[in-house]
Amino acid sequence: MMWLPCGRASRRVVSSFSRRVFRSYFHVEGRRKFNVAAFMPEAAGIQGLSDRSTLQEFSVSNGESFWAAAARHRLSWISPFHTAQDCDLSRGRIKWFEGGKLNVSVNCLDRHVHTCPEKVALIWERDEPGSEVEVTYRQLLEMTCRLGNLLRRRGVKKGDCVTIYMPPCPLAVASMLACARIGAAHNVVFAGFSAEALAERIRDAHSSTVITVNQGVRGGKVIELKKTVDTAVDSCPMVQQVLVAMRTENPVAMTARDVDMEEEMLKEDVVCEPAVMDSEDVLFLLYTSGSTGKPKGLVHTQAGYLLYAALTHRYVFSYHDGDVFGCVADIGWITGHSYSVYGPLANGGTTVLFESTPIYPDPGRYWEMVQRLKINQFYGAPTAIRLLLKYGDQWVHKYDRSTLKTLGSVGEPINTEAWEWYHRVVGDGRCPVVDTWWQTETGGICISPRPSDPDAEIVPGMAMRPFFGIKPVLMDTEGKVLTSNNTSGALCISQPWPGMARTIHNNHQRYIETYCQPYPGYFFTGDGAYRSKEGYYQITGRLDDVINVSGHRIGTAEIEDVVNQCSAVAESACIGYSHDIKGQGVYTFVVLKKDVDVQETDLSRLLNDMVSKKIAKYACPDFIQFVHRLPKTRSGKIMRRVLRKVVERDLNGLGDLSTLDDPAAVQEIIQGHRELRGQQQQQQQQP
Ligand code: WTA
Repeated sequence: MMWLPCGRASRRVVSSFSRRVFRSYFHVEGRRKFNVAAFMPEAAGIQGLSDRSTLQEFSVSNGESFWAAAARHRLSWISPFHTAQDCDLSRGRIKWFEGGKLNVSVNCLDRHVHTCPEKVALIWERDEPGSEVEVTYRQLLEMTCRLGNLLRRRGVKKGDCVTIYMPPCPLAVASMLACARIGAAHNVVFAGFSAEALAERIRDAHSSTVITVNQGVRGGKVIELKKTVDTAVDSCPMVQQVLVAMRTENPVAMTARDVDMEEEMLKEDVVCEPAVMDSEDVLFLLYTSGSTGKPKGLVHTQAGYLLYAALTHRYVFSYHDGDVFGCVADIGWITGHSYSVYGPLANGGTTVLFESTPIYPDPGRYWEMVQRLKINQFYGAPTAIRLLLKYGDQWVHKYDRSTLKTLGSVGEPINTEAWEWYHRVVGDGRCPVVDTWWQTETGGICISPRPSDPDAEIVPGMAMRPFFGIKPVLMDTEGKVLTSNNTSGALCISQPWPGMARTIHNNHQRYIETYCQPYPGYFFTGDGAYRSKEGYYQITGRLDDVINVSGHRIGTAEIEDVVNQCSAVAESACIGYSHDIKGQGVYTFVVLKKDVDVQETDLSRLLNDMVSKKIAKYACPDFIQFVHRLPKTRSGKIMRRVLRKVVERDLNGLGDLSTLDDPAAVQEIIQGHRELRGQQQQQQQQP
């Protein structure tokens, strides 16, 4: 890294030294000396702030001026906005920074190229350890411009939507930014999704252009991504072209529709006029699971999303200029969008794109990477932490982690054991661990232990404190706001913030019904939370039928839809249950049609194949239990509560079964569950 020896190393020494001095100065002088401008230049003009908590209060009670100041300071505008906010949560109308014009790629690239062209923007941590590739801001801008020109030349226009099916790599980031450059929306589909899932998302987004790679490489295995795209596109008549980049050297079959992306990019100019975008034009769609079978394309817009990603990246992780930010999420999820791409690049940072897995080639991969790339902030998922914890401390101790300053956790609850291990072993007890709560819908982190005073306590396994401008509330079952502490309820956010999703693509009604109507005037998150007596928030889990497998969201209805397509199946019910490593596993109850004569083991295998083929591997059931009937109410509704209690082995908590149509069904289910678990234990004990 060319710019490191003279720039980063020395700056870090100075900054940690000055922070120590700063902190002891605080102790002596007390909080009166809170220097707003030093902590948050965006807020420098706000009068009367005596400490961070008054800044937090101001950001909530004067949201409009807070966000206006932040937007003016942190973003580069082509022309300024005239109205900071125009929102009506109850009607699902959310508009920020209206009148403002900007280009997101200019904010993420050009302005940094002007000040530090040779600074490293991306470190592509390829699957093979030690083969990382660095891309400077100048190079990334060039790549983006060539690709923007190519897309334009091939007919992609402002307002179109391009689907991207790629693993984390610089060309994937350039593809996202090239869309932003020319005013097209992108729709990144996680490259672990099956051809059918990809096709559904391409069709829903109406993409006529798809960008992919010939093959992916992950954990030493080659993945045939182009072939998956070929299959997907067969059922997408609107697709006119597939741009194919080469991740490996192996040629793949190309059809008339396919374009050799890198070859064509070389023919393009390195200058690409940025489209002038309105704040509320669409930046991207990202599909996520809800409680019905159909995934929803959440829509994020330009200015508000970018500002929120940038500000949370800067303050939650205490990201400073020169730091290397290591978010190991895939770019196919919102975490990859906000914290591998948009947040760090808007801040002119250096960000890692992680292509591999936590255990390839061995369970020391993350920490070897931390040592080699000198990562300062590491942001990962609890499921990986739980997995690595089981391999033992020696894999961590082997490597130098002294560059680490902040450790982040995202996507699912982090249990205390995993939190403690992350803090004590990975961070040597030195680094704050930030358990960050947020969603695809929120665009960026909403609840997190930091920012707060440098010495403020952090409670293991708790997201704790709302971010600037966020006002969480808990609701009781009657829809009333719970005002006391030490209480649990449905988690809502009581006022709009710039990062929130604006709508569901082509289905604003579903947006209103899902998020705005359950608690009129509030944004409903779908999660439950507990507020401690100190006022800290802890997420208790989903309140709907969405489960979280290894940090990936999946609707139980989506899996049921697939299982029910099998001709032998009469009906099914999918339930999430606690799983040691994955957080939640998938347990499926299946009722066969009468007179079906199949081996249960064969059918289980078939159903697993179907789920893997129609959705993705991670959604496959861990258990399939065949039953004669499901517990139902007299009106025919499946009593999921009962099934959940059975799989959680909480038989005392089964509750009132008197409304069941056929209470004997429950006994059969309990018996079958016991046998299935018993079989699994036996298998595990066999050598
Ligand atoms: C869950 C991922 C507990 C939650 C950024 C949420 C969490 C869903 C946490 C969103 C956390 C996310 N503690 N649960 N720190 N972070 N979740 O859209 O149920 O993939 O609603 O966004 O993950 O998942 P999504």
